[in-house]
Amino acid sequence: MKTQKLFENGSHSWLMFGRDNDKPEQIIDTNQYLVISKNNALLMDPGGIELFSAMLSAVIKQVPAEKITHIFASHQDPDIISSLGLWDQALPSSTLHSPWIWESFIRHFGMESITYAPIPDAGNVLKIDGVHLEFIPAHYLHSSGNFNVYDSEAKILMSGDIGAALEEVDAPLYVEDFDEHIDKMKMFHQRWMPSNSAKNDWVKRIRKLDIDMICPQHGRIFKGDDVQRFLDWFEALEVGLIEK
Ligand SMILES: [Fe+2]
Ligand SMILES: [Fe+2]
Repeated sequence: MKTQKLFENGSHSWLMFGRDNDKPEQIIDTNQYLVISKNNALLMDPGGIELFSAMLSAVIKQVPAEKITHIFASHQDPDIISSLGLWDQALPSSTLHSPWIWESFIRHFGMESITYAPIPDAGNVLKIDGVHLEFIPAHYLHSSGNFNVYDSEAKILMSGDIGAALEEVDAPLYVEDFDEHIDKMKMFHQRWMPSNSAKNDWVKRIRKLDIDMICPQHGRIFKGDDVQRFLDWFEALEVGLIEK
């Protein structure tokens, strides 16, 4: 499991974990993210049960376990949060922030000690020390209850499955040639994203934010001009069921 620093300003930093060479071949490669503040940390989309031991050892090399006070699950998928039952034992006093509509489903992954903090449909803000982390609605992209995480100081948007690409496990971390990258994203967005109006709504909402990096849960990070290129491309793409 590789670890990459994406942002650092004093005690505030962002890390990405991924490109796990040891993962079983048939499971999709995922990116996990961690925001660290002075005394707390938020672990985002911590991944599947298969990744748990690799993730735990990578994460505790960076921060002591008791500092990870918050977990975020953008939606209910197994590649996002099927490791929950094991995190429940590793981080029993933490709080899981996840869409309210998925609480009774996500609890099937096993959750005895962690506290579930349901995110309302309109989203909300988590403040850890001085760092504001906004849970931004991204419903139907692809899950019917789904959020992104935006950090206005780091100018990073953690976009979950939006911007995802199907890649080799040793793919570079950042998009290098946007046009070439389209092939790896197109089918994923057309098939997994069901609604054009939800997509266009999201693009409008995201264009208002100041963003240096869009960090998806699969594939590569969009940086600099590629952020706008991605928003333009996604806006123009027809997704989901095309009504005849
Ligand atoms: Fe998903
Ligand atoms: Fe995913």
